[in-house]
Amino acid sequence: MARIRVRFESGAPERVIEFDPAEAPFQHDGRPGSILDVLLANGVELEHACGGNCACTTCHVIVKEGGTALSEASEDEEDLLDKAPGLTPTSRLGCQAVVLERDAEIIVVVPRYTINQQVADRGA
Ligand code: FES
Repeated sequence: MARIRVRFESGAPERVIEFDPAEAPFQHDGRPGSILDVLLANGVELEHACGGNCACTTCHVIVKEGGTALSEASEDEEDLLDKAPGLTPTSRLGCQAVVLERDAEIIVVVPRYTINQQVADRGA
């Protein structure tokens, strides 16, 4: 089984999700077996304003460990990530980063702010 540990900059408790990458897709948004696919299927509501189609940055996550078990970022993903608030060298779009290894242990951090949340905050 692969494992994703999900940590939240918001301070919400860590979630540990175990799954078999061979069983992807787990729901309908994002690439099959992507971090977004796995998180949504397990009740972690990662933002995904474009529906997981590599057209926004709201699914931005920071991969702390296990990045080598993920599919490589495409040029489109890299271009979009450049616009993500709080970009780091290990940032990925959750809807595009597919877990490839069966025994992977991946740690991702969900940033406190996405572009959507910033807009919502300004409106408040
Ligand atoms: S959900 Fe829009 S780029 Fe991932």
